[in-house]
Formats: sequence, C-alpha cells, structure tokens
Amino acid sequence: MGDKRTALITGANRGIGRAVAEELHRRGLRVIVTARSARDAAAAAREISEGMGGEVVGEALDVTDAGGVRDAARRIGAVDVLVSNAGVLLDAGTDPLTVPLDVVERTLAVNLLGAWRVAQAFVPGMVSRGWGRVVFVSSGIGTFSIGLAAGTPAYSVSKVALNGLTTMLAARTAADGVLVNAVNPGQTRTRMMPTAPRTAAEAALDVAHAATLPDDGPTGTLLRGTRPVPW
Ligand SMILES: NC(=O)c1ccc[n+]([C@@H]2O[C@H](COP(=O)([O-])OP(=O)(O)OC[C@H]3O[C@@H](n4cnc5c(N)ncnc54)[C@H](OP(=O)(O)O)[C@@H]3O)[C@@H](O)[C@H]2O)c1
Repeated sequence: MGDKRTALITGANRGIGRAVAEELHRRGLRVIVTARSARDAAAAAREISEGMGGEVVGEALDVTDAGGVRDAARRIGAVDVLVSNAGVLLDAGTDPLTVPLDVVERTLAVNLLGAWRVAQAFVPGMVSRGWGRVVFVSSGIGTFSIGLAAGTPAYSVSKVALNGLTTMLAARTAADGVLVNAVNPGQTRTRMMPTAPRTAAEAALDVAHAATLPDDGPTGTLLRGTRPVPW
C-alpha cells in the first residue's frame, strides 16, 4: 500500500486489538485506537504514541451503542482499513441446553451486531472511494472445520455468524476494491484467554497481514496465519 491509509481498530485498548494497533502503526498506517471508554482509548493512543513515536488518535466507540457509533463515524470521517476486533466471551463452561439466552443475546450484541454496526458505519465510505480492507477477528471455535465448542455455545455461534457476515460483505463489496476477510488468531494470551500459548503481538501479525492485503489479495476467506483455511 503506497499511500498513508487510515486504520480503525475496535477494542484496541488491550489484548489483540491493542497489539494490532501497534503493528499497524509500526507499518506506517494512521491508526485510530477505539475503545468502549474515551479514557481507555485516549490512554492507549497516548501510550502507543509515547512508546513508538508518531501520532495515534484515540476515540470512544462502544460497538453496541448505535448513536455512539454514528457520532464516532461523523467525527472520524474516512477510514480505509477496519479491524473489527472487539469481542466478549461470557459463557465459558456453559452448555447449549442451559446457557441463559440473555447471555447469548449479550454475546451476539457485541460479537455479531456490534461488528455489523461498525461495518455499516465505515464500509459504505470504502465502497464509494473504491478501496478498503475489512478484517473480522473470528475464532477457530466458530468454524465447522475445527468444530464449535459446546462449552462456549453463545461465543461459538456468534463467531459462526460473524463468518457468515464476512462472506456476505465480501460478496457485496467484491467489485468495489474492498477486501473483507476473517482471521482466526489462534489461542492468544489475553484477559479472555490468560493461559493461551500465543502472544498478542504474534496474533497481531496475522491480523495486520489481512488488514494490509495487496489489491489482488483474497476476499471472503478465513485466514490462519497468511493462508485461507476451511470455514
Ligand atoms: N484470545 C484468544 O485466544 C482469542 C482466540 C480467538 C479469537 N479471539 C478474538 O479476538 C478478539 C480480541 O480478544 P482478546 O483476546 O484480545 O480479548 P480481550 O483482551 O478480552 O479484549 C477484548 C476487547 O474487546 C473490547 N470490547 C468488549 N466489548 C466491547 C464493546 N461493546 N465495544 C467496544 N469494545 C468492546 C474490550 O474492551 P474493554 O476493555 O472495555 O472491556 C477489549 O478491548 C475478540 O473478538 C476475540 O473473540 C481471541
């Protein structure tokens, strides 16, 4: 990518999202760090900027807040690269027969509808400008090839649905220079998975790869590392 592109990352105050923000900043993109709280967004942007040099913008963006997302989109303007990373895992150790459906609703509200809402706010601009990259941070346990995890039913179903959204948006934008892919970051050591083997920085390399694909890169795929893998 020749020009300085603008990348927005959701849930970028910590974990994989934070590491993706650092990696894209390192690669020379103009990075907008977003977080549920304005204070967390500003703090993360300041820390990245102080640690690595250069300007990093922080903006409040709660993906479940329709008005907040609309306001953020108005404030922020054009975004070339959207990394839809914000996610919750609220149902570990439950079971599809007994998981409270309000927990399923709260999970879908962030992992599916939140990602969809943010895409609706920023992808039409990419389509009209004829260039964009969208990355949905998905999960291995949201794939039929690896197998849904019955012990996290809401989370797994939310990621299957996110994968479906990925293929639909990819098809919708295929003629408009916008590449839309999902990434399975693998088991990554964050607050969500405190004992996982991968570091957030390692997972961020895979997400950053998908966020900076060349114009002839894949769209509508699930990427693991740099390669498309079965859904
Ligand atoms: N860690 C893994 O092994 C793993 C594996 C596969 C996929 N993933 C996916 O990777 C993504 C990042 O997860 P992580 O491991 O980095 O977990 P994490 O450390 O728990 O980070 C989750 C991030 O999402 C944000 N978030 C939650 N609800 C939000 C909302 N309504 N609006 C905006 N941001 C919100 C959190 O913000 P707050 O700080 O405000 O809560 C936090 O920044 C998720 O989509 C997750 O499903 C993770």
